[in-house]
Amino acid sequence: MQVQLRIQRFDPERDGKPRWQDYTVEADPMARVLDLLHLIHWEQDATLTFRRSCGHAICGSDAMFINGRNRLACKIRVDQLGRKITVAPLPGLPVIKDLVVDMEVFLGKYRSVQPFLINETPPPAKERLQSAEDRARFDDTTKCILCAACTTSCPSFWAQPAYVGPASIVQAHRFIFDTRDQGADERLEILADRDGVWRCRTIFNCVDACPRGINITRAILEVSRAVVERSA
Ligand code: FES
Repeated sequence: MQVQLRIQRFDPERDGKPRWQDYTVEADPMARVLDLLHLIHWEQDATLTFRRSCGHAICGSDAMFINGRNRLACKIRVDQLGRKITVAPLPGLPVIKDLVVDMEVFLGKYRSVQPFLINETPPPAKERLQSAEDRARFDDTTKCILCAACTTSCPSFWAQPAYVGPASIVQAHRFIFDTRDQGADERLEILADRDGVWRCRTIFNCVDACPRGINITRAILEVSRAVVERSA
């Protein structure tokens, strides 16, 4: 079938502002948007620039604004979108070129919540043991692939770019509720800040955008509750 793509282009060396460019490709209904971008890049316009790595919804590098929603180009298919597809870079982050955004602001927020195991006790001879129930406590938030689809779909982030954002709270949740970790207090203090969990207005855009199906709003509510309990 013929698919028409309207893609937002921007070359900082040539364009004063973003512009739209149209392409038509012959595609199978089961093809993914990433396949179409490759077709255009290989056969029509080698200047079209986008980021990708795994091609299988694991690395998180090809999140884009596709037909009005943040999605992974390697996951969303033509049969789910129709014959007319609009592709733009993730909203709310600076565009480096075409569909490639600068992730530094996003990753800085991620680093700010200390997304790593903190445990000062000497490690045991083997691994630090944990029950299946304790592991299940944060299973959902281990699924995050840092694609930024949630944070960049959040109106609170658009209005207050200092907001730490849903992805960082999800990453903090993954360690706060890990029984092997000892850094929860520090993280909760960071997230108690005015640009921490309280910026969330439970709009649910993040849940809709997450390609991994993480219940992000629930994770934020659990962290908010922990912030309150810590200060009680
Ligand atoms: S290319 Fe890795 S998630 Fe899409």
